[in-house]
Amino acid sequence: MKKFSIAVLPGDGIGPEVTKQAVNVLKAVGKKYSAEFVFKEGLIGGCAIDACGKALPEETLKLCRESDAVLLGAVGGPKWDDLPGDQRPEAGLLGIRAGLKLYANLRPALIFPSLKGASPLRPDLVKDGLDVMVVRELTGGIYFGRRGRTTTAEGEAAAFDTEIYSVPEVKRVARVAFEIAKVRRKRLASVDKANVLESSRLWREAVTELSLEYPEIELTHMYVDNAAMQLVRNPAQFDVIVTTNMFGDILSDEASVITGSIGMLPSASLGDGKLGLYEPVHGSAPDIAGQDKANPLASILSAAMMLKYSLGLSEAADDMEKAVNRVLESGCRTADIATPGTRLVGTEEMGKLIADCI
Ligand code: IPM
Ligand code: MG
Repeated sequence: MKKFSIAVLPGDGIGPEVTKQAVNVLKAVGKKYSAEFVFKEGLIGGCAIDACGKALPEETLKLCRESDAVLLGAVGGPKWDDLPGDQRPEAGLLGIRAGLKLYANLRPALIFPSLKGASPLRPDLVKDGLDVMVVRELTGGIYFGRRGRTTTAEGEAAAFDTEIYSVPEVKRVARVAFEIAKVRRKRLASVDKANVLESSRLWREAVTELSLEYPEIELTHMYVDNAAMQLVRNPAQFDVIVTTNMFGDILSDEASVITGSIGMLPSASLGDGKLGLYEPVHGSAPDIAGQDKANPLASILSAAMMLKYSLGLSEAADDMEKAVNRVLESGCRTADIATPGTRLVGTEEMGKLIADCI
């Protein structure tokens, strides 16, 4: 029996309730595939601030480093919105990404066949489907560059944030994207703003240089404004997208909503080793927290990515994805993806349906 230790960081808002369902589904998977998962909980985000005054307690980071994988819910909420930037729940999330050196964030946006009607795009635009993997740089760029407040020569208040990338930082995340493109449709779009930003010109040079090692991959470069437009104009043209931390944040939300609901989208954050952090792309949704309304599928699909990328259990991961598809095909939907004629279920029931299906 293979044994894996999994750090579970439920966080705030709907984080705990969706994560609970993912854990239950993992338990069902463990039984079927003779794997033992040992779950250990840790604090992150607003709940950690309340309990110990820090969004990312040292113990949490230690727990994660000693684990095979990390399953995270979501962080943040109105209660902590007035705290200074470096003390907010979100600082915990940035801290754990950097602390575990997870520089590549994989955000697959995929339209499930049974949810075709849920996309806000006209049917003729999504006719060819959507299956895009956004690879977002996660531990650099403007999120981590020098920032601060200053005053202008006239004495007016001003502020700045710095976008900075080194060649190795660009190449290591681009390598992840090239490798993923290799086992997909062999097309990679590198998104930047090289017509304006010097950091983007360096980004483009580094990606181009690396592409010499991947002659079988068709590489294109695209400006971010054009990429945002192309995603809604003809989403099927994309296979893998690689981009900076901030552009990836924005484009992955855009790609996700094209699939119907951000409540469906998982993510994996990876570094050089096997340790990865798995979390839904959605946030903590405080408005519906604790009401059994949240869609647990993004968390469940994140757990499936964990099986594949950190634990080497690809077959079990496929099984989980199939279970999600089967339950959707049976017509069960949480509120965010419900359409007339489908059966509305809550968070708990959706989780149970998937676990039973396994
Ligand atoms: C995300 C979120 C985070 C980010 C926030 C909560 C800090 O939007 O994971 O996409 O910007 O990275
Ligand atoms: Mg985001």
